[in-house]
Amino acid sequence: MARHLITSAIPYINGIKHLGNLVGSQLPADLYARYLRGRGNEVLFLCATDEHGTPAELAAAKAGKPVDEYCAEMWAVQDALAKGFNLSFDHYGRSSSEQNKKLTQHFAAVLADNGLIEERMETQMYSHADGRYLPDRYIEGTCPNCGFESARGDQCDNCTKQLDPVDLIDPRSTISGSTDLEMRDTKHLYLLQSKLKDDIDQWIDSQTGWPVLTTSIAKKWLHDGDGLQDRGITRDLDWGVPVMRGEEPWPGMEGKVFYVWFDAPIEYIACSQEWSDATGGDWARWWRTDRGADDVRYTQFMGKDNVPFHTLSFPATIIGSGEPWKRVDYLKSFNYLNYDGGQFSTSRGRGVFMDQALEILPADYWRWWLLSRAPETSDSEFTWDQFQTDCNKDLADVLGNFVSRVTKFCRSKFSEDVPEGGEWGDAETTLINDLQTRLTAYQTAMDNIEIRKAAAELRAMWAAGNEYLQAAAPWSVFKTDPDQAAAQIRLALNLIRIYAVLSAPFIPTASAKLLSAMNTMDMDWPTDMAQAVRALPAGHAFTVPENLFDKISDEQRDDWAERFAGTRD
Ligand code: MF3
Ligand code: ZN
Repeated sequence: MARHLITSAIPYINGIKHLGNLVGSQLPADLYARYLRGRGNEVLFLCATDEHGTPAELAAAKAGKPVDEYCAEMWAVQDALAKGFNLSFDHYGRSSSEQNKKLTQHFAAVLADNGLIEERMETQMYSHADGRYLPDRYIEGTCPNCGFESARGDQCDNCTKQLDPVDLIDPRSTISGSTDLEMRDTKHLYLLQSKLKDDIDQWIDSQTGWPVLTTSIAKKWLHDGDGLQDRGITRDLDWGVPVMRGEEPWPGMEGKVFYVWFDAPIEYIACSQEWSDATGGDWARWWRTDRGADDVRYTQFMGKDNVPFHTLSFPATIIGSGEPWKRVDYLKSFNYLNYDGGQFSTSRGRGVFMDQALEILPADYWRWWLLSRAPETSDSEFTWDQFQTDCNKDLADVLGNFVSRVTKFCRSKFSEDVPEGGEWGDAETTLINDLQTRLTAYQTAMDNIEIRKAAAELRAMWAAGNEYLQAAAPWSVFKTDPDQAAAQIRLALNLIRIYAVLSAPFIPTASAKLLSAMNTMDMDWPTDMAQAVRALPAGHAFTVPENLFDKISDEQRDDWAERFAGTRD
């Protein structure tokens, strides 16, 4: 039994996430957390809302609410959706928590004590039309690196380069569209990341086995161009963590807040403190290497646009502090999921959003499809056709059908008890061996967080049961040799329990239904198949479950394709 800390990139508070966001961090993180728990590990799985910054301020203004009220409401909305998708966070925190405020101010203080923070006078875009400084994302212009015309002030979505608003060519306000911008002097704190470059470089080099996507993005920003740049970590905004040097005021920084990307990753730690405060847990055991966290394996999940912040900026905070914080061991990043020939887009409301998805189908459909088609090695695409085909085939025809044939046949020819009699022969041995091989491959893929591979192995295990049933044909065997048919069905009923356990990380609701139909709480991982197929003995009572997965009809598919073709208002 090992200890695993798992975090998902924390979603922005403003607005509901789309399925592309979901599959890029929270959902795969949940898969991994459930798998590791299923195998008997101790897991702390954390997520939170990312609440600071201008997007939240503007969204609150648009909703006509004070920003703290808006955030509290949106947290509840996102929390409910996370539950709807069965995301099994041990704690769903908030970056605006008191714990995060304290910890962010603490980090700033130690970084300053270590000579890693410098005050710099900088020029900041002030928009006359908007009556405010325009931070990062609220300035758009042409990327100086790649020429992309809609680069944001903090990052170019085309080439992923982290930018400063002043780098942009032909800048304009995205709030008002105004180009009446003025550069004003304002004092800010800079984290001297350049001084930490060698430490970060060495640390990244010492990490073996990271996905290529992760390391290549990190290395690119460490070595390309001017390398790792010092970074402004404060902003002229009202909403955020007030700039303080620990508990002390920071002269000259009154009225300013820390940059949202400075405090957001710190919430990974603060969230564990929120969890501790709520449950009496011991956060330090997970985060402080001087208090036991050396034994922890820490895995982070995120979309590729988040990689620079997790491989460079946050490590700079942690390493620069000189304090014994746990560092990430494995960083799993994802490409993008596209929607029906284009991109999912929050700002344009294009695609399917988490609330809408749950309105039309139960979470398991989405979980299975998104995970089995996760954009791991390249971008992938959601189409209604593919979604219908995959769900109907994998979930209804293969898994659902197996369960329904086996349980109904048993009820009609024997009873709702695991039948007695007969013996297993070569066909059964072959099946069990095949499942054992597949199981090993499944575990390896899950251990390595190769999600599509894992899904393929799981699907193959479902299919193997179906093929066995088809070939064994207990419905014909029954006519001449009922004992033999009983032995076959006994095996098949046990497979249902095994499928429930193995499939739980992907489709937890269906899995729970299967276990309850099989009338068992035995969720033991089927490490040894030969033994696992005997877990439910002859005479064990079960019930025929309701239909597990309804098929998606052509009519539904067309309706949804039409309903979600445009943009949401
Ligand atoms: N809110 C960011 C996003 O959705 C992710 C923040 S992750 C953290 O892209 F590291 F900052 F916590
Ligand atoms: Zn660019």
